[in-house]
Amino acid sequence: MNKIVINKVLKKLALNHGTPLLVMDLEVIKDNYKKLMENIQNCRVYYAVKANSHTEIIKTLNELGSYFDVASRGEIEKLLSLGVAPEKMSFGNTIKKSVDIKFAYENGIRMFAVDSEMEIDKISENAPGSNIYVRISTNGMEEDADWPLTRKFGTSVDHAIKLVKYAHERGLNPIGVSFHVGSQNYNPNNWRVAIREVSVVFEEARRMGIEMKIVNTGGGMPIKYSKDIPTVEEIAQVINQSVVDYIGEGIKVIVEPGRSMVGNAGVMVTSVILKSKKGEENWVYTDAGVFHGLLETIQNIRYEISVIGKENQENDKFVLAGPTCDSVDVMYYDASLPESITIDDLVVIYNTGAYTTEYGTSFNGIQSPKIIFENGLLFSETSEHVYEKTLEKVLNNE
Ligand SMILES: Cc1ncc(COP(=O)(O)O)c(C=O)c1O
Repeated sequence: MNKIVINKVLKKLALNHGTPLLVMDLEVIKDNYKKLMENIQNCRVYYAVKANSHTEIIKTLNELGSYFDVASRGEIEKLLSLGVAPEKMSFGNTIKKSVDIKFAYENGIRMFAVDSEMEIDKISENAPGSNIYVRISTNGMEEDADWPLTRKFGTSVDHAIKLVKYAHERGLNPIGVSFHVGSQNYNPNNWRVAIREVSVVFEEARRMGIEMKIVNTGGGMPIKYSKDIPTVEEIAQVINQSVVDYIGEGIKVIVEPGRSMVGNAGVMVTSVILKSKKGEENWVYTDAGVFHGLLETIQNIRYEISVIGKENQENDKFVLAGPTCDSVDVMYYDASLPESITIDDLVVIYNTGAYTTEYGTSFNGIQSPKIIFENGLLFSETSEHVYEKTLEKVLNNE
């Protein structure tokens, strides 16, 4: 389905629901899940809840059989309240409060990430006998990722080996090694490099009599913003081959997709609330900004943008900014927007299903985008089939 048709539907939805609005499509999420399961051998998907924790998304993935990577007690409580079994959760944050570890353990969670001795001490005290996996760092890969996760997370291979021993001595069960190549990573070879490092930890653990069975490849798979991306199939092929080449048979591969599970399942609609000229600069202000869902624009995420009804017009350079009284609230200083853009125009920001509303605040008393679901709208493969009826309904305003 083409963008102009999607935009027509989005206009109707924006008029009905107001803006800012995040329109999500569960059909896309189901397809993303299916693709991972089909392409990665011995795979188990742990959806990274932090990307978008909307209850409809959790319920859909739970029904499909997904597992979940949780970052905090808040996420655990939410998932438990939705009926997700604790055995399907991994507490994947390496920085956890002791009371939250205890809470997780008392509620049946037995899988925890670590990258330090102190975290192991906290787990052995509050979640005795649990399974742990050690996160190794991926320093040097930041060049290939729009949202790098280096430095703060993971540790060296040498230290990881020591941590496996340390955890084992404290009665914990080291089940594997994890890494994260950085979010929105464009280079499949990074997965190969990381899996080779994982294999060193596996080998040393084996020497100590500890048989580990899980490689947790974290997130990092990219979605299409402005640059070309490798496909899921290509990355999966690298993961599959690297596990065989470096580690061997019988290994379970965990993936923790956040961005690549929900990013392309969402599209944001905002309204222009002001246009102004400051010297040579043309400014456009919308009703959602950095504090209301578009935080990732301040690093490297370059969303594709269009203006409804002006899709084919000549573009000019604009500064695109949000509505708050804060000068950080600028998305792009070089946005390409139609010359005639003006007040009340609807600005569509594509592939905004991940890390948008989750980062949203109510700064300045302004609400972050409301989420609604329009299943089939963004699902391209069989969109005509899936969406035919809904499209009619929406356009006729039923
Ligand atoms: C432990 C862990 N797993 C998975 C993810 C999801 O990564 P992505 O959104 O790149 O798929 C994150 C993101 O921060 C993470 O911290």
